[in-house]
Amino acid sequence: MHDVPAVDVHLIRRLWTYISPYRLLAALSLVLLAGVNTVQLAQPYLLKYAIDESIAVSRLDGLAYPAMLFLFVVFMEFFLRFGQLYTMEIVGQNVIYDLRCAIFSRLLTLDAEFHNKNPVGRLMTRVTSDVEALQEALTSGLVLILADLAKILGIIAILLWLDLHLAAATLAVIPPMLAVSWYFRRRMRATYRQVRKIVARLNTFLQEQVSGIRLVQAFCREREIEARFAKLNEEHRDAEERGVVFDSAFSAVAELLGTLTLAWILWVGGRRILGDGITFGTLVAFVGYAQRFFEPVQQLSQRYAVMQSAMASTERLFDLLDTHPRIVSPVNAMEPARLRGEIIFENVTFGYAADQPVLRNVSFRIAPGEKIAIVGWTGSGKSTVIRLLVRLYDVQGGRILLDGIDLRDFDLMHLRRSIGVVVQDHFLFSGTIATNVSLDHPKIDARRVTRALDAVGMSRRIAALPEGIDSAVAERGGNFSVGEKQLLSFARALAFESDVMVLDEATASIDTGSEAALQHAIETALGDRTSIIIAHRLAAIRQVDRILVFHHGMLTEQGTHSELIKIKDGLYRALHDLQTEGGRP
Ligand SMILES: Nc1ncnc2c1ncn2[C@@H]1O[C@H](COP(=O)(O)OP(=O)(O)OP(=O)(O)O)[C@@H](O)[C@H]1O
Ligand SMILES: [Mg+2]
Repeated sequence: MHDVPAVDVHLIRRLWTYISPYRLLAALSLVLLAGVNTVQLAQPYLLKYAIDESIAVSRLDGLAYPAMLFLFVVFMEFFLRFGQLYTMEIVGQNVIYDLRCAIFSRLLTLDAEFHNKNPVGRLMTRVTSDVEALQEALTSGLVLILADLAKILGIIAILLWLDLHLAAATLAVIPPMLAVSWYFRRRMRATYRQVRKIVARLNTFLQEQVSGIRLVQAFCREREIEARFAKLNEEHRDAEERGVVFDSAFSAVAELLGTLTLAWILWVGGRRILGDGITFGTLVAFVGYAQRFFEPVQQLSQRYAVMQSAMASTERLFDLLDTHPRIVSPVNAMEPARLRGEIIFENVTFGYAADQPVLRNVSFRIAPGEKIAIVGWTGSGKSTVIRLLVRLYDVQGGRILLDGIDLRDFDLMHLRRSIGVVVQDHFLFSGTIATNVSLDHPKIDARRVTRALDAVGMSRRIAALPEGIDSAVAERGGNFSVGEKQLLSFARALAFESDVMVLDEATASIDTGSEAALQHAIETALGDRTSIIIAHRLAAIRQVDRILVFHHGMLTEQGTHSELIKIKDGLYRALHDLQTEGGRP
C-alpha cells in the first residue's frame, strides 16, 4: 500500500462540494472553536493575575475579580466546547448522509460486469467503514489540526511575551518531544495497517462461512473451519499486540517527558524568581501553558494518522463515484408505447471475458407472439442469451433488435420494463410475499398480486397461511422451498405484465403433478405475448412453436419438436432419447 498524503488538496476540494450545503453551520463551528481556544488560553493568565496582583501582595479584596472571571471563563469553555462539538458533528452526519446516498445509488446503477468483479464484502466496506473514516476526518481531523496549530502558536506567543528566557527553556523540549512521538506513531501506523488487512480477511472469512453454515454442518467441516478461523484470529491478536507495545510505550514516554519538562520549567523558573527575573505568578502561568501545550503537540501526529487513513478512504469513495456504468440509455432513447415483441439476433457474438466468446455468431428471429424454447447442455449459453436481451451486458459483435430497434437505442428502463424475466438463480428479498411479487411497485396492488399468484397456482396455498399474502419472507427466501421460490419469481414476472416474457428454468424444481397444472397456467398466462422458455426438461416445452438448440455457444438446430426429432445424430434427438430412456415421457 502506498503512503497517502494526509492532506490532498484535490480530494478536499471535491469533498467541499458535499460540505458546502452546510457551510454556515461549519463556519459557526469554527468560530466556536476559536472561542474555545481563546478562553482556554485566558485561564493560566488569570491565575498569574490573581497571584501577582492579590495573593503575593496580600491584597484579599482584589481576588474576587479574577476569581469570578476565572469561573466565567471555565463555564464559557464548557458551553463553547459543547456548541462546537455539536455543530461539527451535525455537519459531519449530514455530509455522511449525502455521501452514503450518493454511493448507494451509484452501486444500484453499476452494471453486472462491475458487480461480478467486486465482492459484496468490499462494497459493504465502502458504504460503512470508509464513510465512517471520512466522518472522523471531518469532525476530528483537519479542523482540529488547524485549531491545534493555532493553539500551539498562540501559546508560544504568550510564553515569549511573558518571559523570553523561560520561554526559550520551555520550547527547547519541543524538538525531542516531536521526534519521540513521530517515531512511535510511525511504528504504530505500520502495525495498524497490518491489523486492518487482517480484519478485512477475518470479515470475509466470517461472512462466507456463516452464509454457508448449512453446508459446513452438512459436511461436518466445523473443526477445520474453526481451526482456520483460530489461525486468522491469532494473526489478528499478534498484530494487535505488536501495536500495543508501541502504544503503551508511547503513553508512558509521553507522560515521562511531560513530567520532566515540568520539573525543568520549575528548575529554570524557580531560579528566575529567586534572581527577580519573573514573578511567581508568571511561573504558575508557564506551568499552566506548558500543560496545555504538550497535548496538541503529541496529538498532532495522531491526528495526522487519522487524516491519512481518511484520505485513503476518501480516495476509494471517489473512485467508486467516478466509476460510471457502461450500460446506459442513449441520448435520444426510444420508448415505443407498446411492443409487438419481434426479437432478432443478428450475428451476435459475446463473451464475459473479451477473448473467450460464449456466444458465437448467433442469428435467429422470433416473430411477434411466437413462443420459442431454448435447449442445450449446461453452459451452452442459454442464460447468456437472456442476459443480453435485457441488456445486462452489451453484445461484442452483431446486434439485437426488438421491434426493429437496436437494444442500445432503447431507453434502458423502458426496455427492461418491457421484458418480464424469471431468472434462473431466483432471489427473494426479506419482506412479505406481496412485496416480493410487487417489489413495492406502486401500480401493483394486492389484487394484481393475487391474480399473479393465482396464475401460477399458488393462491390457494397462500390463502391458507394465517397472514395470506402478507406472510413474512425470510432473508433470501429461507422459509420457502426451491420450487415455491420459483413459483413466486414467476408470479412476480407475471404481475409486471410485460410485453415479452422470458422464463429461465422457471419450472425446473416443480414436481411433475404441479408442473402439468403449471404448464396450463403458463400457456394462459403468457397469452399471445412473445415468450422465450429455457428448460432442461423437454416435457416442459411441449407447447412451444419452435425450439432453438444451442451447443457451445452456437445455434445448431431449430424447428418444432417433430422436425428436430427426425434429425439423425442431432443434439435435440440425443437429449430427447436420454430423457425418455429413463421411462419418463
Ligand atoms: N458472469 C460470468 N462471468 C464469466 N463467465 C460466465 C459468467 N456467466 C456465465 N459464464 C460462462 O458462460 C458460459 C455460458 O453460461 P450460461 O449461463 O449462458 O449457460 P447456460 O446454458 O444457461 O447453462 P445452464 O444450463 O447450466 O443454466 C458458461 O461456460 C459459463 O461458465
Ligand atoms: Mg442457465
